[in-house]
Amino acid sequence: MPMPADAEGAYVYRRCTRCHIAENFHDKRYGRIGWELVLLRMQFLNGARFEQGERARIRTYLLERKRADPIWEVGEVVLLAAGASGGVIWLLRWRRNRSGDPANDRL
Ligand code: HEC
Repeated sequence: MPMPADAEGAYVYRRCTRCHIAENFHDKRYGRIGWELVLLRMQFLNGARFEQGERARIRTYLLERKRADPIWEVGEVVLLAAGASGGVIWLLRWRRNRSGDPANDRL
């Protein structure tokens, strides 16, 4: 896999090939949420170390060069919203169930 010729690309490929080869991400296409989730996973699950502002810098490059179709991005937003509202509903039910009213057991 040749390094990108531009300086920013070379920086990103250098940063992202410490643990795996560039084939892992070279042909991937994600939206804003998708790339942020990839970078967060690299950082917090896989142990990548980013300096202050580095994640945003890398995400900007990835979004410029490896951005998914608009329809994919809509899907990312829908999934995030569904996940978030699912969490809120779960929390509300959990709080209500904790109140100990037997009527809640039927829900
Ligand atoms: C500290 C090690 C490490 C660094 C640095 C790292 N990765 Fe990863 N990456 C992993 C591991 C481990 C996996 C496999 C497990 C997984 O998918 O989370 C992986 C998998 C991936 C995948 C495939 C999974 C998917 O969601 O498509 C992508 C894309 C990816 N990395 C992108 C990146 C990018 C972009 C960078 C640069 C910011 C990066 N990685 C830097 C460890 C790392």
